[in-house]
Amino acid sequence: MTVGDQALRRAAALREQLNQHNHNYYVLDQPTIPDPEYDKLFQELLSLEAAFPELATLDSPTQRVGVAPNAAFAEARHRVPMLSLNNAFNDAAIEAFDKRIRDALDVAEIEYFCELKFDGLAVNLTYENGLFVRGATRGDGSAGEDVTANLRTIKSIPLRLAGKAAPELVEIRGEVVMFKKDFDAMNRRQREAEEKEYVNPRNAAAGALRQLDPQMTAQRPLRFFAYGIGDHTGPDFAATHEELLEHVREFSFPVNSVGRTCRGAAGMLAFYRDIGVRRPSLPYEIDGVVYKVNRLEFQSALGFVSRAPRFAIAHKFPAEEALTEVLGIDVQVGRTGALTPVARLKPVFVGGVTVTNATLHNEDEVRRKDVRIGDTVIVRRAGDVIPEVVSVLLERRPAGAIEFTMPGNCPICASRVVRAEGEAVSRCSGGLICSAQRKQAILHFASRRAMDIEGVGDKLVDQLVDAELIKSPADLYMLSLEQFANLERMGEKSATNLLDAIEKSKQTSLQRFIYALGIRNVGESTARDLARYFGGLEALLGADLQALQVVPDVGPIVAQAIVDFLAEPHNREVIDTLRRHGVVWQDLPAHVSDSSEDSSVSGKTFVLTGTMPTLSREDAKARIEAAGGKVSGSVSKKTNFIVVGEEAGSKLEKAKELSITLLDEAGLMALLKERKG
Ligand code: IVH
Repeated sequence: MTVGDQALRRAAALREQLNQHNHNYYVLDQPTIPDPEYDKLFQELLSLEAAFPELATLDSPTQRVGVAPNAAFAEARHRVPMLSLNNAFNDAAIEAFDKRIRDALDVAEIEYFCELKFDGLAVNLTYENGLFVRGATRGDGSAGEDVTANLRTIKSIPLRLAGKAAPELVEIRGEVVMFKKDFDAMNRRQREAEEKEYVNPRNAAAGALRQLDPQMTAQRPLRFFAYGIGDHTGPDFAATHEELLEHVREFSFPVNSVGRTCRGAAGMLAFYRDIGVRRPSLPYEIDGVVYKVNRLEFQSALGFVSRAPRFAIAHKFPAEEALTEVLGIDVQVGRTGALTPVARLKPVFVGGVTVTNATLHNEDEVRRKDVRIGDTVIVRRAGDVIPEVVSVLLERRPAGAIEFTMPGNCPICASRVVRAEGEAVSRCSGGLICSAQRKQAILHFASRRAMDIEGVGDKLVDQLVDAELIKSPADLYMLSLEQFANLERMGEKSATNLLDAIEKSKQTSLQRFIYALGIRNVGESTARDLARYFGGLEALLGADLQALQVVPDVGPIVAQAIVDFLAEPHNREVIDTLRRHGVVWQDLPAHVSDSSEDSSVSGKTFVLTGTMPTLSREDAKARIEAAGGKVSGSVSKKTNFIVVGEEAGSKLEKAKELSITLLDEAGLMALLKERKG
């Protein structure tokens, strides 16, 4: 055997292996070798073909990209026209379709094959003696554009048909689509590169397929699903559409697996409902389903009317996108005080309902999409999700379109609007007084870990706020037995219990009180730190940004949130009222000194064992030493604390024997913060 012969054989073997791996990966979704292995085989084939250029056959996986950019696409006439489908939008139209067919064929019940209607681009792929020679878009149905070079870059399209007996000629028809996740990733990259984003996967796929440079197409993640055939030579492949698809699958094309046969109108409608439910979780977009009479001889008997077959129909889902006009941009205040710009729209029917407004998320989103009052926009409503403005049709922008600005004051309570650095969300600083936030704030105030008022839940707060009996948590303390008893579904006994619970809550701790105020970013542990540090409320109320940041674990963001909250006169008023109504606690001594001398760690001996969740051993040691403690390698009677992590060793056993205090990481951190009083 000559060197050339050897190369020829090796190249053929590599081609076959690589094509098989492509098929496993892109069609079956079941890769059988790791990517680097694939790359190695691919490189080997590339170098063989470089040494022996005659080996680079048309079906070689190396030849998917390799053609120079086109100046324009050539026209490609279809041997058999590419038809369109008639559309149906409701059940009655499907029942009528089924009846027409039964009448025409004089059959009692028809079997249909139900498929997904992919939202992509129809293409026709021509194979001669098993080799992919030409691919074309649908165009006007009679002639499309020759996009062979671009289609060759789609890895789920076989360059050579699988199986022994390839017909002299066969045309495979199907849809080129982009998967949702690939679309999202592509748009993320576009955004990062500050390039224009694509409106939807269909447009992105269309754009990719019409690239003049196949190199560009190759970088776009396109897929293909086969759903039929065009012209072919030789004997018929099958007696039913279902069998036909099986045959196409054996040629190694991806045929979607969701399709199934069914009987009659009831069967088709059941498929439609089933897919309607599954639609949001499908990895690609569909705009409906397609029903095809399964028996091919019935198909031929039924024939065509103008440009659509009588034997098939598309049952469409309500459109998820529509065009409409932005009449205004309002600002809504959510339960947590977040201000959300909302586009007020000229009513439009989309996704099965009439939409009159759509969220714009936040100020930055409005800027990014450049939505202005007066603009014509694409609105999207998919499934149960909140309607959204997808993009603006800039070419339709009127001269006087008005830009949006976030108001400086809350539209509900007129408190100042603040936007923390690095955050996209603007918030109302009104806190307790803002009625949008009121219910939430009151619930939080009364919750178990805050003021712990039993019986104050969702329903009661709704009733109290809606009846305007209370506006702030402080008002809870002004309610009378009579007022409670007058509420719906409230007995004398429950009213008394409630009043008792409210009375009881007046005896509290500073820590609970601070937490109950519901200051943004101030959770239970921060509230405890603040209470311990300042000892009393006056010191906290008087603290500025700098003073606050001296408190352990309080950084600039938390400090700013506290300052913003306390700068609001409304909030101060609520605090005063609460105290006037008798909410009290025991003040603690303040601990503003930060000397390590008086730390409970100072002079103590620690032993570390095992791995801690976040602290490294070095880090823990450094912290203990900084607080005046000592870290020792072994446990003895002199050890004060043992800090225990995962997989602690024999030191733990010894420490237990000696009854030494055990700490976990959190315990150590707490101790490091604590100071002797
Ligand atoms: S069959 C003879 N099956 O729908 C019937 N078409 O309006 C020819 N489409 O341009 C089409 N999914 O792009 C068929 N499962 C499916 C389809 C499908 C999507 C598209 C196709 C065609 C349009 C027809």
